Amino acid sequence: MKIRFRLNGETVELTQVAPTTTLLDWLRLERGLNGTKEGCNEGDCGACSVMVTDDSGARTQNACILFLPQLDGKAVRTVEGIADPDGTPHPVQKQMIDHHGSQCGFCTPGFVVSMATAHLNGAQDYDTQLAGNLCRCTGYAPIIRAASAAHDAPVPPHMRDLCPPSADDYSPKNSNDFARWYEQNPDATLIAGATDVGLWVTKALRDLGPVAFLNRCGDLRGVSRRDGGLYIGAMTTLTELRDQIAPHYASFAQMIDRFGSTQVRNAATIGGNIANGSPIGDGPPALIALGARLHLRRGEARRQIPLEEFFIDYGKQDRAPGEFVEAIHIPDQPDVLACYKLSKRFDQDISAVCGCFAISVDQGHVSAARIAFGGMAGTPKRAAKAEAALLGQPWTMASVQSAQQALAQEFTPLSDARASASYRMQAAQNMIERYWRGTQGLASDLHEVTA
Ligand SMILES: Cc1cc2nc3c(=O)[nH]c(=O)nc-3n(C[C@H](O)[C@H](O)[C@H](O)COP(=O)(O)OP(=O)(O)OC[C@H]3O[C@@H](n4cnc5c(N)ncnc54)[C@H](O)[C@@H]3O)c2cc1C
Ligand code: FES
Ligand code: FES
Repeated sequence: MKIRFRLNGETVELTQVAPTTTLLDWLRLERGLNGTKEGCNEGDCGACSVMVTDDSGARTQNACILFLPQLDGKAVRTVEGIADPDGTPHPVQKQMIDHHGSQCGFCTPGFVVSMATAHLNGAQDYDTQLAGNLCRCTGYAPIIRAASAAHDAPVPPHMRDLCPPSADDYSPKNSNDFARWYEQNPDATLIAGATDVGLWVTKALRDLGPVAFLNRCGDLRGVSRRDGGLYIGAMTTLTELRDQIAPHYASFAQMIDRFGSTQVRNAATIGGNIANGSPIGDGPPALIALGARLHLRRGEARRQIPLEEFFIDYGKQDRAPGEFVEAIHIPDQPDVLACYKLSKRFDQDISAVCGCFAISVDQGHVSAARIAFGGMAGTPKRAAKAEAALLGQPWTMASVQSAQQALAQEFTPLSDARASASYRMQAAQNMIERYWRGTQGLASDLHEVTA
């Protein structure tokens, strides 16, 4: 196995590394680059943030859940590579000093990398850019002031990394190669963005056995128009999906803004979000409400199913050995989608309940209704009885109440650390009302309620 990438401007070639070695461990243990910190080791704190550049640009990722083979053909910049090679501090470093943006300093390298990446990309939405970097002592105001003060400074030339040619001789280079290989090696663990799989290694300490990295399969990545809708490749990251989906389904894009953090969205793929079968994944409820179909492939055989049919039971999906998620297809439709993600924290939190609604009304009556929930069952689940209670009925609060009662008949949510069963049910029922209020021009968001 051979991997080639640029590290702080210098080309590195590796031949003898275990494929599930994380970049964080390698930087600290093999290269002595200890500026990149280990906080949570599970993608939650951003202390390990690094800048990764590939042909789509530069972005931050968490080094603790980034495996070395995912870097082949890319460029990485750690905090040690942010200042100019002659020692001149980067504008964000200077402003962090001037604005007293650091106290204990543990979070500071991660912040500096995120700020320098935002500076390179001209991004000024600092609440979003820095939501994945946690600071316990300084507080965010001086840090955001520092980022803002650095904005107009020119980008130091060394920050514009060039990527080396890939050295990869081990992972499939397109989906055809991969489909053939996986059919022959159905026991392999697939690795897409590694935001789930990474934790199996760093937290569960699992030996994954044979693995297949999908990051080289560029033809599985991206959103295009096909067959009267949007065709979304399984390797499309949540960051890319957010930008592509925003002009079509604004509420879905707004929900993706609350999916993990910038670092997580830059790595996580929509294919991984579906394939992991999580009952609390945020992608599936929105896609089910949009009537999406899942494209599955095994060798040369392809099939399509409605997405909701993929989720059979908790931990059980309709996927045969050697079969993988190739794409998701959303048919064109008017945008009546609303997505409500309920979590204890606004940013970087897992949903207690995620409800997604696409209800069309014609001449005062419901002409179509698709409703799906996450967090309400062992799988992402379509609310068939609530839909039936609405279909053909006048679009009134009385019909909404019938749908609320139907929900109580078809869902038996669990109680766990995030929410009790009764809270989940009440919240899900309230979401239908919230959707209805939104269509009536009534306040449906806390920020709209006036005394
Ligand atoms: C800090 C943090 C915050 C998070 N926040 C959220 C959140 O807000 N909302 C949310 O929904 N999730 C969240 N997640 C979970 C995770 O980021 C998502 O589920 C993500 O979409 C997984 O995608 P991935 O590409 O990283 O998958 P991976 O970790 O690479 O893979 C996940 C699973 O899918 C399989 N797989 C991957 N691609 C394919 C394919 N094409 N075909 C078949 N199988 C495949 C893998 O073998 C594995 O079993 C969070 C995770 C972390 C670490
Ligand atoms: S160490 Fe916390 S995100 Fe990596
Ligand atoms: S300065 Fe201490 S955690 Fe941020």
